[in-house]
Amino acid sequence: MPIRVRKAVFPVGGLGTRFLPATKAMPKEMLPLVDKPLIHHAVEEARAAGIEEFIFVTGRGKSTIEDHFDQSYELEEQLSAKGKQDMLEALRAWLPTPGKVAYTRQQEPLGLGHAVWCARHLIGNEPFAVLLADDVFLGPSPCLKQMTDVFEGQSMVAVETIDDESISSYGVLKVAKQVRPSLVQVSGLVEKPRREEAPSNLAVVGRYILTPKVFEFLDRKQQGAGGEIQLTDALSWLAGLEPFYGVKIAGERFDCGSKSGYLRANIAFALERADLRDDLIEYLSNLSIERKRRVAAGGAGR
Ligand code: UTP
Repeated sequence: MPIRVRKAVFPVGGLGTRFLPATKAMPKEMLPLVDKPLIHHAVEEARAAGIEEFIFVTGRGKSTIEDHFDQSYELEEQLSAKGKQDMLEALRAWLPTPGKVAYTRQQEPLGLGHAVWCARHLIGNEPFAVLLADDVFLGPSPCLKQMTDVFEGQSMVAVETIDDESISSYGVLKVAKQVRPSLVQVSGLVEKPRREEAPSNLAVVGRYILTPKVFEFLDRKQQGAGGEIQLTDALSWLAGLEPFYGVKIAGERFDCGSKSGYLRANIAFALERADLRDDLIEYLSNLSIERKRRVAAGGAGR
């Protein structure tokens, strides 16, 4: 019987400093992509890949994420009283099945590896997915689904080819061999290598399927690049022990952890929407060259 990935971890314990002041009192993962929070997109993607249990690793100031995936009695009553049945049903349709969602708290944001480790007892002894809500994808099929479609029990990461200028911002693969055009076997990983030391141009983007063996390394709580407990270090260790793969993802990725990636994602996702597309295309095509020049020169753009 094929091995299924049933559980997913959503690490949402980070501080989101690149989005301050927006993220001072609001989690970065609740920033809307068009009209759904980033974390909502990630949960939908996980569902589309067959995930049944959703584990959030939260931190201080993240309680709106729990509220978002919970019933809202006042709102539902209001919608019902106003006869907005469609909205009410749509709202209820995506609520998680009771008992299939869990929250655990990362008391200190010590790094992504530490956040994943915080979920160890909820994962137990089976392979699991990790989704970072700030990477979002538009492609022929959801990113995690592209991975579960080729999953055969071994750990794997989603990867993208990154140019030399940006490679030092990523976890980068040491490639052992090309298995198929979109699949490579990995012998190790390096977190944020210097450009001239990057072992390849294949970088990890925020989706992982991992065997529980990874917790053996994370148990050591070893600090890596930037003094953080890095997931990449645990993956590199794992790749030295077990078969480990990189899946080249078809489609476009947006780094919503950066402001420009977030803005681009909003435009791209809005263009996918029949109710927004025409208006946005008109606006974008009327954005005159003169105005762009004025804004770029620091003049009044409004
Ligand atoms: P980032 O590396 O983007 O860090 O985390 P960040 O703190 O969220 O944002 P900046 O860099 O300060 O702007 C990627 C994902 O890992 C989670 C974050 O919540 C985000 O979803 N994370 C990161 C944790 O859950 N815990 C951590 O200790 C670090």
